[in-house]
Order: sequence, then C-alpha cells, then structure tokens
Amino acid sequence: MSPRSFALSLQSPPSKAHSLLVTGGAGFIGSNFVIQRVAGGTPVLNLDKLTYAGNPENLASIADSPLYTFVHGDICDAHLVARLLAEYQPSAIVNFAAESHVDRSITGPEAFLRTNIDGTFTLLQAARAYYETLTGEARDTFRFLHVSTDEVFGTLSPTDPAFHEDTPYAPNSPYAASKASSDHLVRAWHHTYGLPTLITNCSNNYGPFQFPEKLIPLMISNALAGKPLPVYGDGQQVRDWLFVEDHCSAIHTVLASGKVGETYNIGGNNQRANLHVVHTLCALLDELRPDSPYIPHSKLLLYVKDRPGHDRRYAIDARKIQRELHWLPAESFETGLRKTVQWYLDNPAWIESVTSGAYQHWIDQNYAQRGATS
Ligand code: NAD
Ligand code: TYD
Repeated sequence: MSPRSFALSLQSPPSKAHSLLVTGGAGFIGSNFVIQRVAGGTPVLNLDKLTYAGNPENLASIADSPLYTFVHGDICDAHLVARLLAEYQPSAIVNFAAESHVDRSITGPEAFLRTNIDGTFTLLQAARAYYETLTGEARDTFRFLHVSTDEVFGTLSPTDPAFHEDTPYAPNSPYAASKASSDHLVRAWHHTYGLPTLITNCSNNYGPFQFPEKLIPLMISNALAGKPLPVYGDGQQVRDWLFVEDHCSAIHTVLASGKVGETYNIGGNNQRANLHVVHTLCALLDELRPDSPYIPHSKLLLYVKDRPGHDRRYAIDARKIQRELHWLPAESFETGLRKTVQWYLDNPAWIESVTSGAYQHWIDQNYAQRGATS
C-alpha cells in the first residue's frame, strides 16, 4: 500500500477543497480517471477494496502526489463511507467500484449483487446523509455520478438502431442485471430524495491497465505468449469500442456540466465484430513485434464454445452528450488500438504481475469448460 494510504486515525487529511471521492479507482477505468484528474490539479480520494481487478500499481505514477490519497476499503462498509464523507467533504462522488466481467458473473453472480447493488445502495444512503449537511455553494454543486454500462439495454439485432438514453432496460447477464439495478437505485434516489445524481452508460472500453480477462488485453497477452486466442462462438458479436481516456474525459464533462437527474450515453461510434478486432490486433502485433516467433499471430486464433446468453450486438447513440455537453472522443478505433497495443508491449512487467496466481486459476476455469470448436 502507498505511504499516502489513509488510516482512520489520520489527524489532518490533505487538501479537501473540491476533492473527488472516487470508488474503484484502482481498477481499469477508475485508475485512468484518477490519473487524469490528478494531472488536472484535482485532489482525489480513492476508495478501493483491491479485489483481483484492483491494482495499486496502476496508480504508481501519482502515488506520491499530495493530491492523491488511497483508502483500502469496501463501498459496502457504510460506517467507513460516512466517515470519509464527513472528513474529506468531497464536492462529488464518482462511483466506478463494481464487479465488471460478464463471464465471472455467469460462474459466480453473488459478488455482483453485493458490490454492484448493495454497494451502490450503501453509497447512495451515505451520500444522501452527507448532502443533507451541506449548505450554500457546496450543496448547489455536489454531485453523485454513477458510472454504468450499455449492457443494461440488452442486445441488438444487426439492423436495430443504437441504444439511446430512452431505450428500455433489458439486461441479459447477471452483470448487466446488477448494473441495471444500481442505475434504477440511483434514479430513485434522485426522484424521491432529491440527491443530485448523474448516470453515464458507456460502451466497451479498451486501453492501458485493462485486466487481461477482457477481450482486447487477453488477446494481446495470449498472442505475446504464443497461446491460443479464444474466440467465442462465431466471433460475429459486435461491440462498440471507446478508448478509455475518452470515456474518462466524458465522465469529467458530465460531472462538470451534466444536468442533474439525467443520464448520458457515451460511445465513440466504433462498432466492430470480435473477429475483426482479433485480426486487427494480430496485424498490429505482426507489425510492432517483427521478431516474434508467433508471426503471423492470427494462426493462434481458436474458436471455442460460446458464452451462455451471449449478447449479439451493442451500439451506443452518443448524440445527446455531443449535442448538449459538446463532448467528442479524441481517438479513433485505429489510433486507440495502436496506442493500446504499444502500451502492453512497453509494460511486460505489468502483464507479468497481473497474470500470475489467481489469474491462472480463472483462465483454467473459464477456458477449460469451453474446449476448441475448430
Ligand atoms: P474493473 O473490474 O477493472 O475495476 C473495478 C474496481 O472496483 C477494482 O479496482 C476493484 O478493486 C474495485 N472494487 C470492486 N468491488 C469493490 C468494493 N466492494 N468496494 C470498493 N472497491 C471495489 O472495472 P472497470 O472496467 O474499470 O469498470 C469500472 C466501472 O465502469 C464499472 O462500474 C463498470 O460497470 C463500468 N463500465 C465498464 C466498461 C468497460 O468496458 N470496462 C464499460 C462501461 C462501463
Ligand atoms: P468482454 O471483453 O468480456 O466484454 P463484454 O462481454 O462486457 O462485452 O468481451 C467482449 C466480446 O468478446 C464479447 O462478445 C465476448 C468476446 N470474447 C471472446 O470472444 N473471447 C474471450 O476470450 C473473451 C474474454 C471475450
């Protein structure tokens, strides 16, 4: 744990002015967001349980910044959350903390219900009590921003229009159902109690620090090691990809100027079939690793048994955030993917540190049951 880690006995916490309480800030998107906000001069208090997906190494570049404080704890711990709010008086809560992997939600849904539903409920109750203590400008500007996913909307056929903010919720996986539940709680806490909430529903992210259980980092990490690249089913499922730093800039935009009680869809208009993504990654690795013994990396591709209940297509209509808040992504899929592959090539020690021990257990459990279909 970093030397700046919080202890409950801490007498004089660092600067509180305009600080953000970020939950799940040691995970993939959370750590990118924390790094971005600290670089922008905002004090950040990061509350993270450090599950298998949380990694303090992601935040090594800012660990010693006076603007950054880490708290090792659980969003389900009502006493801890209330105490942090009272001590740090944050101007906003940004809730990233979640169990986030669909395949894990299929083999073990309990943790998803606990963190994603109970945890969000605990945060909302604590935020509500804290909000009642605020007066004047602090009360006017306080926000609770809940980070959610497009998976709450269910699945699309190839010709359906993209998800917009009014698309009915139809979650299909335990993960999506738990996130949908949490979104509904946030909505209700605004409607009933007047808590100044914001919700963002974003499409699939990729970029630095993504744990290699998800499609893109798993394929990069396996290809570098000469291991099979497991494509579920026919590989024609479509996801709408957004570079993680663009997601973080969108969250910042919504926090700064989103309308209280509203939801905003976030996406980069980059729909790609999984097979296309894997072939693009292989081509990038062939180019950037010309001395690899595994060229062409595409020969590592292996079709495996499909995911149960696999959503066929996600696509985000992001026109509301573009029109009302003037947010646009900076990266195209091609530029973002190149940066991502280069990041994994430049950080073999990071891959090494996250793919030992418990990770191997998950890989064995998830892929042993799938077998090869080609
Ligand atoms: P992640 O799995 O990489 O990170 C989750 C973080 O939350 C980890 O640091 C973990 O330690 C922490 N955490 C888990 N349970 C906790 C608890 N009970 N208390 C405190 N901390 C806890 O997830 P991610 O991919 O960074 O996703 C972050 C958020 O963004 C999630 O809410 C997810 O639903 C949402 N989202 C993700 C994507 C995506 O493509 N990854 C897309 C849209 C939305
Ligand atoms: P994933 O990264 O798990 O995100 P999500 O399920 O939340 O969209 O998976 C992205 C897509 O890639 C999804 O259609 C499942 C597919 N996939 C594979 O084909 N092989 C794999 O090994 C993994 C992890 C995912």
